[in-house]
Amino acid sequence: MSDGLELREIVKHYRGGEVVRAVDGVSLGIEPGELVALYGPSGSGKTTLLSIAGAFLAPDAGTVRFAGRDVTAFSASERALYQRRDVGLVQQSYHLSAGSTAIDNVAVKLLADRVPLAEARHRVIPWLERVGLGERLRYTPDRLSGGEGQRVALARALVNEPRLVLADEPTAHLDRRRSRDMLALLAKIAHERSVAILVVTHDPEAAAVADRTHTLSDGRLTSGVPRDLLAVPEGAATLGGAQP
Ligand SMILES: Nc1ncnc2c1ncn2[C@@H]1O[C@H](COP(=O)(O)OP(=O)(O)OP(=O)(O)O)[C@@H](O)[C@H]1O
Ligand SMILES: [Mg+2]
Repeated sequence: MSDGLELREIVKHYRGGEVVRAVDGVSLGIEPGELVALYGPSGSGKTTLLSIAGAFLAPDAGTVRFAGRDVTAFSASERALYQRRDVGLVQQSYHLSAGSTAIDNVAVKLLADRVPLAEARHRVIPWLERVGLGERLRYTPDRLSGGEGQRVALARALVNEPRLVLADEPTAHLDRRRSRDMLALLAKIAHERSVAILVVTHDPEAAAVADRTHTLSDGRLTSGVPRDLLAVPEGAATLGGAQP
């Protein structure tokens, strides 16, 4: 049995007018110490799958296990504890609290776990420095760029050293150099701290740091990186910097 994340035969269909088969029988395992990059076109089910892995959304069928425990069978309080302690989530649209400094936006994660405020703020600072925001510690979100805000959200996901990190397009607002830095940071955290990390991305750079890559397409998972993404990536970045 795995100590990491195990998704087994996950199905999630949305029923509105017509049925959207958002996730259609996906099995995926991520061991502690492993970074897996998940590619896929818009609407292919990536956020849905991530939400299911973090127990923010229940699958219609299939099981999620983490560290050998059946997440899909968790009670509400077990689920809350899993999300607070085990999971570091970076959402696609990261939400920062408007009136709070970068420090306090990250400290929130520790306060939720009853860490006293002064200690929480103290622990936050090295994480903001790690994501390159040592000069922005007391800025509120209105004074941060999109990419800086995204890095605050990344620090918030990592600050309590969760065993599982679920990151939904964590480099979407970053330039190429910052993207590479943040992906390298995630890989380092995975490898050095035995964290299981799933990164949803359109970023060709992610394949270079990932231990494995998968592509989700119409709710189904395949191995590897989509060729068209590497050939014609969004933005200007290409893998390895080669321009035809
Ligand atoms: N709450 C919902 N109700 C109905 N349909 C939904 C809901 N959430 C997502 N969907 C649909 O499910 C499919 C997968 O959505 P999802 O957000 O998982 O895609 P994604 O791969 O994350 O896309 P993107 O790259 O644009 O973020 C899409 O067709 C979407 O329209
Ligand atoms: Mg998405």
